[in-house]
Amino acid sequence: MKGNYYFRQMDSVQAQKRIDALTAELNEHNYRYYTLADPSIDDYQFDQLLKELLSLEADYPLLADPNSPTKRVGGTVAEGFATVQHRYPMLSLDNSYSRQEIEGFDQKVRKLIGFDGDHRGELAYVCELKYDGVAIGLNYVNGMLVQAITRGDGIQGDDVTANVRTIKSIPLKLTGSGYPKDFEIRGEIFLSRTAFAKLNKEKEALGEQLYANARNTASGTLKMLDSTAVAKRNLDCYLYALYGEGLPHRSHFENMQAAKSWGFKIPEYSTTTKTIDGLFEFIDKWEVRRHDIEVDIDGIVLKVDSYDLQEELGFTAKSPRWAIAYKYKAEEAATELLSITYQVGRTGAITPVANLAPVLLSGTTVKRASLHNADQIDKLDIRVGDTVFVEKGGEIIPKITRVNLDERPADALRTRFIAHCPECGTELVKLEGEAAHYCTNETGCAPQIKGKIEHFIGRKAMNIDGLGEETVEQLYEAGLVHNIADLYDLTYDDLIGLERFADKSVNRLLDGLEESKKIPFDKLLFALGIRYVGQTVARLLAVHFKSIDKLIAASFEELVQVEEIGDKIAESLIAHFQMEAAIAHINQLKSHGLNFVLEEKEEELVSNKLAGLSIVVSGVFSEYSRDGIKEAIASNGGKVSGSISPRTSYIVAGENMGPSKFAKAEKLGITILSEVEFIEMLS
Ligand code: IVH
Repeated sequence: MKGNYYFRQMDSVQAQKRIDALTAELNEHNYRYYTLADPSIDDYQFDQLLKELLSLEADYPLLADPNSPTKRVGGTVAEGFATVQHRYPMLSLDNSYSRQEIEGFDQKVRKLIGFDGDHRGELAYVCELKYDGVAIGLNYVNGMLVQAITRGDGIQGDDVTANVRTIKSIPLKLTGSGYPKDFEIRGEIFLSRTAFAKLNKEKEALGEQLYANARNTASGTLKMLDSTAVAKRNLDCYLYALYGEGLPHRSHFENMQAAKSWGFKIPEYSTTTKTIDGLFEFIDKWEVRRHDIEVDIDGIVLKVDSYDLQEELGFTAKSPRWAIAYKYKAEEAATELLSITYQVGRTGAITPVANLAPVLLSGTTVKRASLHNADQIDKLDIRVGDTVFVEKGGEIIPKITRVNLDERPADALRTRFIAHCPECGTELVKLEGEAAHYCTNETGCAPQIKGKIEHFIGRKAMNIDGLGEETVEQLYEAGLVHNIADLYDLTYDDLIGLERFADKSVNRLLDGLEESKKIPFDKLLFALGIRYVGQTVARLLAVHFKSIDKLIAASFEELVQVEEIGDKIAESLIAHFQMEAAIAHINQLKSHGLNFVLEEKEEELVSNKLAGLSIVVSGVFSEYSRDGIKEAIASNGGKVSGSISPRTSYIVAGENMGPSKFAKAEKLGITILSEVEFIEMLS
């Protein structure tokens, strides 16, 4: 026993060494990739290192560092966020919109510090971009990230540390030297244009309403309770202000350069200038160039560089006197509304579209704008023939902000939202609590049918090789495919005569269909395109119900008992399975051998150490969450049981295990394991 103990000690010392080495290496690669945009290894090599660290941390949970790079993938689910006090109030900036206001700011600064009149003292400004994101304060102690706080009301904000740890460009552990023992750095969290476009592409594939702009999406993401979901969204962060005792320099610009050397991503393209013309040059340059960068900016920020002067200037109640924001106006153009047309989406939702006389805006020609829904049309009181203003703010789709009533033609008719589907003529319905009108003819309305087939074959669903949007259109028009199940009835003879189909492409498509029959149940369930059943929900449902038959048979009550399944999803599932056509398609797919049962794969097990054991989990744990313990039992071959019985092999007990459970366990002579004993049992 003693020898064994000694051996484990040796082992954990080695493990600690390897954990430290991997942590340093991964931190360096994250920094190179996310902050410098200059990676030195490929994704695969990075993943191998990360996997090694993850597995070491699983084996030695007590050695895992809260700032480990593995925390970048999330893993915590919060019930809410703690409210915490800011050490320095988080103020905002005065806004300005004109050259006169900038001149006024410069004069006021000079006057307050006595650099006006005969005395022209040296005054340097730093010009930075003004990022359109969410403000954040990051606290570092001894070079480690300890807390991240949102602005809140400026006095206190939310502690969102777990979510912020997933942002790869934020260093969890600082590099270099010269940073104060305890300091705060503030900045702006944002979603890059690419990350935002990717999210919306995923939304589009699900037939869900798109996010309107990157800033609100970044803000919503930061407040998500599940940090794993946050990690997937690829938030990013620029840091632009340091606070604390013992900063290395008395110049903002120099301190930001120091922050860069500690691993922070600081504003790019910053300059310093001592002249008012320098300020205007920066403003003018970025008014044009702002569309060319990966991050939305809504203006620029001018800051007095010297901390001594900043201190002299001080603050008003709301904002510092040593800085000002110059905000760019959202670009706007006037044009004529030619017509309103209505589009039918995969889910039957109707989107009104404004067709405009082409007009140039922010470098692109705008011909169309979304009108969103009937409420929006009413709010704008928009009519065909009107002159309207289109704006392209942070939004991806240009929006109509207002109508020029002075130019309204006398005969312009009030817009009435259509009552019937423009594609199939079915009467539209408006569901309670939803803004959209819907066409309910899911199985007979062409764009819905085609949209559902396109979703079904998509990469994240059935991933069918040899099939694309155009082919779906072609097969539908040829009368060969009317629903997802018809795909599997296609034969060589059906296809070979079609345009653009030759022997090779026919076989590729048929092979692709055959191959897709092996797709696991959860993906197939997602592919069915049931409203509100995205990838995650499909996975949860598949794991819970294990087969389509059990899912179809589930009542509303049974559905809402599944974690994360709410009323809306449950209602949608019930309504879907009540459709005769939906059941017929499922049966047709079953007859072709598609996989409607979840296969529990043995190879997914980490080990078989707990095979044949039935284990009850009770109480609150410190290293693992309760679900984490349950997962560990399942992935090591054990069975998790909800109640203590003579068949129970062990109880893993955290704190606060109820006294009655204790008594029952004692009576039945069942061994109670502490969390540490359980972890040791697995290692
Ligand atoms: S400095 C005392 N610099 O804009 C305030 N702020 O409207 C110090 N912002 O609260 C802020 N880019 O959330 C600063 N380069 C930048 C910025 C920036 C964006 C945000 C920040 C600020 C808000 C003011």
